[in-house]
Formats: sequence, structure tokens, C-alpha cells
Amino acid sequence: MGYQNLLIENRGPVRRIIINRPEKLNALNHVTVNELHLAFDQAAAEDDVRVVVLAGAGGKAFVAGADISELNGLSPVDALAFSRRGQALMLKIEHLGKPVIAAIGGYALGGGMELAMSCHLRIGSEKARLGQPEIALGLIPGFGGTQRLLRLAGRAAALELCLLGDPIDATRAHVLGVLNQVVPTEALEETVNALADRLAASAPHALRGVLDAVIVGGECGLQQGLDYETQAFAVCASTEDMREGTAAFLERRKAAFSGR
Ligand code: COA
Repeated sequence: MGYQNLLIENRGPVRRIIINRPEKLNALNHVTVNELHLAFDQAAAEDDVRVVVLAGAGGKAFVAGADISELNGLSPVDALAFSRRGQALMLKIEHLGKPVIAAIGGYALGGGMELAMSCHLRIGSEKARLGQPEIALGLIPGFGGTQRLLRLAGRAAALELCLLGDPIDATRAHVLGVLNQVVPTEALEETVNALADRLAASAPHALRGVLDAVIVGGECGLQQGLDYETQAFAVCASTEDMREGTAAFLERRKAAFSGR
């Protein structure tokens, strides 16, 4: 499928989705949000895709936010639809059932930070700058930023970042738990590729179980979350991969997971 603002690449079982509007620092306009919906639907539907990497083109930004030129004339009714459409994209990514890694090589602001926070792992280069600067536009985050930042980094950080709007550097984002890892700029792609390859070689039903238990179970009370975990654990026990993984350990060899 041809996209106007996305590049799609395959590295074996790893699908790379690259937001490609570098002249606008990959800002999320309507077209890009719609295309991301389609690209993630495609990644979810294709069994051969085991892991998704999301990145921005151009080396300067992951995504510098929602497209401000489209926000300027927004009516409240349009704003409601825009926020819901963006939130639905973030939920789609979060609930993809396959690991999604954000490779953040520069600005991840506003909708860009929200997009990154909907991914399951975030690797940043030393140049990464993350923030929720909407307050300077007389707005608040509308793609889930108030909620996901609160859950990832806690109330103090969520309030500070959203009330003041100042971006934070990669080191602070790592300390807050927003970035999983910070690497030198030249090592970002290699680090993300190695991580994606490692996940792609894992048992996909077990990966899905972890994602479900942590993300869906994490929103429930403890007992419901534990029930969720038990169900996912039992599903894993029905897979060939679980037999293979345990047998490989006992036979002191490397497991070869088939995805069944
Ligand atoms: N929406 C629309 N266009 C954007 C954008 C956004 N969120 N972020 C950057 N751009 C555009 C700029 O308008 C500029 O386009 P132009 O060359 O046609 O004028 C181009 O991208 C390059 O950005 P520029 O501001 O010149 O780069 P810079 O290096 O001086 O500054 C930033 C980089 C990220 C600090 C600055 O672009 C910025 O503050 N962007 C907005 C961030 C924001 O508020 N995001 C939240 C939106 S809800």
C-alpha cells in the first residue's frame, strides 16, 4: 500500500513504520494520523509481523506534535473528533498484541510524546527531547498524554510537564522511566534493531500474554489483574512454543520458537 507520509520497511519479521514529513518535523496532520491507523491495522493483521518499530524520518524529530496549522481553526466539535481519533490510534498501538518500539532520535513533543508513550518500549538517543508543550498553545494534551504520562512517570512529573510545557532531555526522561534506554545517536538504529530482533525471536503468544496482562490487567483491580495473568499463563501452556521453551532449557539448547 502506498502512503503519502509514511515509509514502510520490513526487516524479516520486524515491520518498520517511519513517519516521513521531515520538513515539518514529522508533525501529525490528519493524513498522517489516518495513515498510521491503516499501517498499524496492517501490522496487526499480518502474522509474519512479530514486532513493530516506529521512528521519524530526517534525524531531527521523532514527531514534533500534532500539526499546529490544523489546530488553529479547530471548532470544539472538530477538536472532539480529532482528540478521539488520536486517542483511538494510541489505544490501537497499545493493544496491538505485538511489541512496538519507539526509536526517538530527536523531538518527541505533544502528540509525538503521546505517540511514544503508547509504544511498549522507548529507546532514545542523547538528542531526544520529550515534552507536552500544549500549554503554550492554550491547549492541553489531547491524545492521552495526561493519562499515560501520569501512569508512566507519576503525578508530580505529569503535572510538571503538562503545566509548564518545558521539554526534558533524554537523561531526565530516562530517570522518570519514560525512556527505557538512552544510547549515543549513532547507536540508536543498531540498538533498536537488536532489541526488535530479540523480541521477534521470542514466543509471540507469550509476548502477547505479557502485553495483555501488564496493559489490560494493569488497569483493573489487583484480583482482576491476577485473573487476567492466570488466563494468559494458561493460554501459553496450550502452545507448542511453551513445550519447546521448557524442553530447550532441560536439554541445554537454544529454543527455536515457531509461533504456534
Ligand atoms: N506542527 C506544524 N508544523 C510544525 C510543528 C508542528 N507541531 N513543529 C514544527 N513544525 C514545522 C515548522 O513550522 C517549520 O516549518 P516551516 O519551515 O514551513 O516554517 C518546520 O517544522 C521546522 O520547524 P522549526 O520550528 O523551524 O525548527 P526549530 O529547530 O527552529 O524548532 C521545535 C524545533 C520542535 C522546537 C519547534 O518546531 C516547535 O516548537 N514545534 C512545535 C512543538 C509543539 O508545540 N508541539 C505540540 C503541538 S500540539
